[in-house]
Amino acid sequence: MVVRIWVVEAQSAEAEARSLLSPAELSRADELGGEQVRRTFVTSRAVQRALGARYLGMPEPEVGISRACSHCSDGGHGKPHFTAAPELDFSVSHTGDLVVIAAATDTKVGLDVELVSRTMEIDEMVHILASEGERRGLATYRGESRRAALFRIWARKEATVKLTGHGLLQVPFLTLSVDGPVARIDDPPADWPDEAIHLNDLPLGHGSVAALATTVPRPEIDIVTLPRVADLSL
Ligand SMILES: CC(C)(COP(=O)(O)OP(=O)(O)OC[C@H]1O[C@@H](n2cnc3c(N)ncnc32)[C@H](O)[C@@H]1OP(=O)(O)O)[C@@H](O)C(=O)NCCC(=O)NCCS
Repeated sequence: MVVRIWVVEAQSAEAEARSLLSPAELSRADELGGEQVRRTFVTSRAVQRALGARYLGMPEPEVGISRACSHCSDGGHGKPHFTAAPELDFSVSHTGDLVVIAAATDTKVGLDVELVSRTMEIDEMVHILASEGERRGLATYRGESRRAALFRIWARKEATVKLTGHGLLQVPFLTLSVDGPVARIDDPPADWPDEAIHLNDLPLGHGSVAALATTVPRPEIDIVTLPRVADLSL
């Protein structure tokens, strides 16, 4: 059981990434304000299309990707999936110029990457993010290690709610505990999976903290850095 992960820097990838988008995505990219927001959007959508194209054997712009929410009737905020290959589970995260995608067929996946350099009021974040048990654990750290430990909790929580597709709105972070090998939740929302959600920390570098949530324990994880989105191969 292997989870494949590809890492790409939006800054170097934008120009060729544009050629992989659908016409609707290109129009949306052109409407986005802010250079970094636009190049991240373009790179993220392109890397998803490159994955779908390799798996399905079709041109990138034609890959069907649904973002329908399986927990409500919204068409745009659900976990993305390939309409012609629902068995290939994937999850995307972007932070700064880093765009990362994880994919697997034998496990569900949820991925989150956070740059530790982000400006954050750490004590405030502890109160927003950490459950009681996690706060006790964080109290044993000081300075930079406390900051890294908090970001690890954050990434693990986002990875968990991205695996299930619930997102942040349906799962108050204080009800979720991720300080062990498996996520625990008090008062789960509708459609929360019965199967265990396993937590894996990822050594991605680039000053980031990253977590991968999976429905199988200890998967083999294969991480590849792509110079160009088009270099993605299965
Ligand atoms: C999912 C979520 C946690 C991601 O947070 P973020 O700060 O955008 O973080 P990231 O950069 O790590 O992830 C972005 C990617 O998450 C993915 N994503 C979006 N919604 C998702 C969902 N519901 N589940 C899983 N992944 C999702 C997308 O691939 C997106 O990248 P893309 O738009 O370029 O394709 C956040 O967007 C969220 O909570 N959305 C709300 C979902 C919602 O409304 N749920 C209510 C259900 S009724």
